[in-house]
Amino acid sequence: MPTNESRDAARSPRRRLRLALHPYGVGGPGQHGLWKDPRIAKNASIDINWYIAQAKAAEQALFDVFFIVDSQFINATYPPHYLNRLEPLTLLSAVATHTAHIGLVATMSSTYNSPFNLARRVASLDHISNGRAGWNVVTSFDTGASRNFGFDEHPDYATRYGRALEFVQVVRGLWDSYEDDAFPADVGRDIFLDPTRLHGLDHVGAHFKVAGPLNLSRSPQGQPVIFQAGVSDEGRALASRVAEGIFAPGGALDDTRAYYADVKGRARRLGRNADQIVVFMQAQPVIAATDADARRISREIFDADNDFGRKLAAFGRSFGAHDFSQYELDAPFPDVLELADRSGRTNAEAIVRRAREHNLTLRETVLAFTDYRPSPFTGDPTTVADAIELWFTERAFDGLMLGFRTDDDLARFTGDVVPLLQQRGLYRTEYDASTLRGNLGLLVPENRWSVAREHGLVSRTG
Ligand SMILES: Cc1cc2nc3c(=O)[nH]c(=O)nc-3n(C[C@H](O)[C@H](O)[C@H](O)COP(=O)(O)O)c2cc1C
Repeated sequence: MPTNESRDAARSPRRRLRLALHPYGVGGPGQHGLWKDPRIAKNASIDINWYIAQAKAAEQALFDVFFIVDSQFINATYPPHYLNRLEPLTLLSAVATHTAHIGLVATMSSTYNSPFNLARRVASLDHISNGRAGWNVVTSFDTGASRNFGFDEHPDYATRYGRALEFVQVVRGLWDSYEDDAFPADVGRDIFLDPTRLHGLDHVGAHFKVAGPLNLSRSPQGQPVIFQAGVSDEGRALASRVAEGIFAPGGALDDTRAYYADVKGRARRLGRNADQIVVFMQAQPVIAATDADARRISREIFDADNDFGRKLAAFGRSFGAHDFSQYELDAPFPDVLELADRSGRTNAEAIVRRAREHNLTLRETVLAFTDYRPSPFTGDPTTVADAIELWFTERAFDGLMLGFRTDDDLARFTGDVVPLLQQRGLYRTEYDASTLRGNLGLLVPENRWSVAREHGLVSRTG
């Protein structure tokens, strides 16, 4: 249990637990059989009304973020939700018109987009939602996406993450095209735009040439919030440079604490205020009336989806959707690490390391990496609230990025666990603001041109 001292520190007004919901419709990774649950509509992943209802339920429980993940490549073995789902910004634009406080964060690849288009689309969501938009920068895991965008090969890590950094810098530059007072819209003086408050970018870099300006003004939160997901060294370097939010994978308490300390430490060493980076850890709580019931249900969920052929197919994703069914299952793990060089290298390296260290066969390796690992947030509502409090206080995360199998599971969390977190002073009892930044405690970034003007560095003509 947390000490009183650490509890007090965690409960100070400066640090509040954050919550995000990421809906997985008919079933994400490891949930291949979820679509068969009678409580889940077979079209949930493409039904905008289902997403709106999810977002409203999360907003009712004062969640910070509604987060839509995405990818641009599938084959028939992919999880049901991946096979048939809506494009994130289109989806969130519709959700925006049915919600008022919850943040709306979309995953968009920096490898398979262009900065001008992306800057415009995310800024549009920011206006549509009155300052609630966020962009989760990913460099794309699936090598096959390259063939959907006219390239023979998926770029390697260095290229992907180099492009990602420059991409974010360009997008942020475009988001500063207009200063806040650019549009006097003064009929009396016949001035719609003050042209001294409009700025081009004229960016020329290793990956992009973008002239600007962007044809869209700043929203109430100044700029959309930048999130990042990806745990390689390159991913952490990017996060520490530019991320204001991070989506981190779950894991053991020690590992998640180490990850948290690492990314915040990197940011501090770059001169950033690490409190201005909110780390969300992925989790799928299992909550029931008693701890024993929750443990039983958790095991049943695993057993119902425990199909070796399906696991073998999913295993290939880190290795560029490689087909492992071509190998002898009881022979040593095949020599395929180089297939992951441009794919899920971090995960693939962990797999190959373990297989080599323990002389595992392919079958044993797949089983070792897909064995039963119950969520640390499994139990009755008090047990789950205790675990959340402990991990939060131990600085394994600032917030949780939560996935639930069914509406009932979400309702159980919001109805039974959230009130406990509120009673303990860990979680808000009302929204702090109407913007995503405001709710996450993130500062509004100053417009670079306005700052330069204040320092006398911009001429009257901009
Ligand atoms: C919590 C979490 C969520 C992620 N969500 C997405 C996603 O929606 N789409 C995507 O293409 N990649 C996603 N990624 C993967 C990253 O983009 C990254 O490509 C992948 O983790 C491999 O890079 P890495 O070795 O830096 O982790 C996610 C990663 C994490 C840890």
